[in-house]
Amino acid sequence: MTRLNLAILISGRGSNMEAILEAAQDPAYPAKPVLVLSNRPDAKGLETARAAGIATAAIDHKTYGKDREAFERVVHEQLTEAGVEIIALAGFMRVLTPWFVNKWQGRMVNIHPSLLPKYKGLDTHQRALDAGDTEAGCTVHWVSPGVDDGEIIQQASLPILPGDTADSLAARLLPVEHQLYPEALSKACADIQTRA
Ligand code: GAR
Repeated sequence: MTRLNLAILISGRGSNMEAILEAAQDPAYPAKPVLVLSNRPDAKGLETARAAGIATAAIDHKTYGKDREAFERVVHEQLTEAGVEIIALAGFMRVLTPWFVNKWQGRMVNIHPSLLPKYKGLDTHQRALDAGDTEAGCTVHWVSPGVDDGEIIQQASLPILPGDTADSLAARLLPVEHQLYPEALSKACADIQTRA
């Protein structure tokens, strides 16, 4: 089986990235991390990736002001140079333009901390609590031009407990995300290989 060259895009802590890197240590895992890229040069996850021996790139979106596409052209160039075949967005907090999404459509997945289609965008946990939901969860989906809108690959849920806050919910959900993402990414790779 050939492994797909994987780029992980992050903006901060990178704990989901770490879960993927761990899974990918297994030579049978269908993706091989070749690049971790961040739009924030100070992202903690970059250090973690370097320590794991993965090539990293930092492309500060602030350099490009309001020109989102100019930023994305540089990102795209780096991904292409690294021979990337699949992208995992893991806490990457920049909305991507249709230009970039179309270039990578069918080859880019994202993790979102809600049971989509509920709570696209930000503050997902608080919105689940405010709505009186009895469960929360996370979703891995294909990235399409609409924000948090692409076809769902896999979801995982957990009960909301009495007294839960947005923070306690986020903390209990995080290990669930770490379990889900490598599994769902593996499915995405299988899907790409089937299409090829
Ligand atoms: C994760 O909870 C992820 O689901 C969320 O950001 C966090 C990143 O944590 N992503 C989004 O909200 C995307 N809209 P991490 O950097 O430790 O993986």
